[in-house]
Amino acid sequence: MPADDAVDVRPTPQNLVAARGFATLDSAGILKALCTIRPYTGRDVETFCASWESMPPDTDMADGGPPRRRRHAVYRVAPGGAIERLHHRPRVRTIDHDPLNGGGVRHVEPIADATNANPLMQGFLGLADQIVCGLSPWTAWRVDAYQFRITASANGGKPTPEGAHRDGVAYVLMALIDQRNVRGGETTIYDLSRNPLGSLNLKSPFETAIIDDERVYHGVSPIHACDPGQAAYRDVLVLAFRRIPAEPRRPRPRKASKNKDRILWRTI
Ligand SMILES: [Fe+2]
Repeated sequence: MPADDAVDVRPTPQNLVAARGFATLDSAGILKALCTIRPYTGRDVETFCASWESMPPDTDMADGGPPRRRRHAVYRVAPGGAIERLHHRPRVRTIDHDPLNGGGVRHVEPIADATNANPLMQGFLGLADQIVCGLSPWTAWRVDAYQFRITASANGGKPTPEGAHRDGVAYVLMALIDQRNVRGGETTIYDLSRNPLGSLNLKSPFETAIIDDERVYHGVSPIHACDPGQAAYRDVLVLAFRRIPAEPRRPRPRKASKNKDRILWRTI
């Protein structure tokens, strides 16, 4: 532990994101951190991962590509870490941040209550909040959580059909939950001039990346089935953190002065 007056140069997720705009966390580290935040059982892991099985298809993709499956939930995280699920609401993205599907309101089925209550879901929200609050303290956040399943059809599947992009938020956490019979799916991080900064290949369940969406672009390469005769898919949890602007402080009404002629300040 560094001394109070020392600069913390440990390669923590916060320090890596602050230094270069992105960081990865391995499976073992994530599972240990999640258990510290919300203890879970092996059964919780099974039911959490199984919740990706029954998601409805999103057939509204503008590229007409193979349907992806997804669910969505919205949370508010208060400064200090209190997490509250908000009423379900449509997903809105601008054309700037999503040239393919942005510019409108999209309805996505809500994340199931049982999945929301799963200790791993709450652990991911808490862990992401700890990292993000370390980067930007005293901020209230709106968090859009997505469960995604990308299927590789005969022509493959596109985790990010819009290509290299930003999500129009402050920070994004992406956790690989599972992938079966898949090759590809490499994440590349780019600077704001779209020069590649590095690649992340999330392969093991629960491997996680966190990025500063205001400083870097990200894109994920297409996935293909290793064995075209078998089902091939990639399951991901995404948490997108957007700052909630602080409400302006209302001026308190001033009491009328008893002596209206009193000189408050004298200039020379
Ligand atoms: Fe994205």
